[in-house]
Amino acid sequence: MEIIILPSPAEVGKLAARRIVQLVQRKPATVLGLATGSSPLAIYAELAAQVRAGHLDVSRVRAFALDEYVGIPPGHPQSYASVINREVVEPLGLDPAGVRVPDGRAHDIETACAEYEAAIHDAGGVDLQILGIGANGHIGFNEPTSSFASRTRIKTLAPQTRADNARFFEDPDEVPTHCLTQGLGTIMAARELVLVAQGEGKAGAIAAAVEGPVSSMCPGSILQFHQHATVIIDDAAARDLTLTDYYRYTYANKPAWQRF
Ligand code: F6R
Repeated sequence: MEIIILPSPAEVGKLAARRIVQLVQRKPATVLGLATGSSPLAIYAELAAQVRAGHLDVSRVRAFALDEYVGIPPGHPQSYASVINREVVEPLGLDPAGVRVPDGRAHDIETACAEYEAAIHDAGGVDLQILGIGANGHIGFNEPTSSFASRTRIKTLAPQTRADNARFFEDPDEVPTHCLTQGLGTIMAARELVLVAQGEGKAGAIAAAVEGPVSSMCPGSILQFHQHATVIIDDAAARDLTLTDYYRYTYANKPAWQRF
C-alpha cells in the first residue's frame, strides 16, 4: 500500500480528488465506487469545483455506492441514496441514470443484492473505489469478522457504528440497525482503492489496517492484499503508525511520473 500523510483534512480531499481527475481524464467512462459519511466530502467538493472550473468532464462517469441503510423511509435526508444525490450527483452534474445505490427497501433483499453485484459486473467493474474507514476498522459496512470473500449482502451495524452515525440523525434511535453493503470481496475486485481518513478518532483503525496483521477483526486490513491501494490521511489519523518517517520519505521521493 502507498501511505500518504498530509498536514490537513483539506489536503487529503484535494489529493484524492486529483487522482480521480487524472483517472477520468485518461478514461472518461470511468466507473467510480462512492463512499458516504464525512471522510469523502472534501473529495466530492473538490471534484465539483473542478467540474465548475471546466477542468473535469464527468458526463460519461458512472458510479456505484458502497452501501445503504435498510428500512430507512424513502426520501429520508440520511438515506445514502439521498446523501449521494445531494453530495455527489447534483454538485458534479452526474447523470442520475448512471449512479446506483443498493436498494435498502427491497422486499427481496437477496435478489436485490445479487442484482447489484450483476450491475457492477455489467458496467465492467469499478475502476476506482473511494473508501472511508470506521473507528472499528470497517470499510463499507463490513463490520469486524466480515468474510474476506463477502459480496453485497445485508449486515447488522455494530453498536459503535450506530453510535458514530447518530450524529447524522435527530434521534439516535432513528439510526437503522441494518444495511446493505458491498462485501469485502466486491471491494477488492475494484481495480484501484483510495482510502481517506482524517482525525485522531481514526488513528487506531488506520494503524491496524496498515501495519496490523491482516485479520477480519480489522476489515480494512484486507487492503494489504490489494494490488493498487492508496491510503491518504492527515497527521492526526497517522498518529499511531510506526513507520511514518518512511511513508513521508517515500512520498517526498516519489518519481515525478508516478505523481498525481
Ligand atoms: C459509508 C462507508 C463507511 C464510512 C465509515 C467512516 O459509505 O463506507 O465505511 O466510510 O463509517 O465514516 P465517516 O467518514 O463518517 O467517519
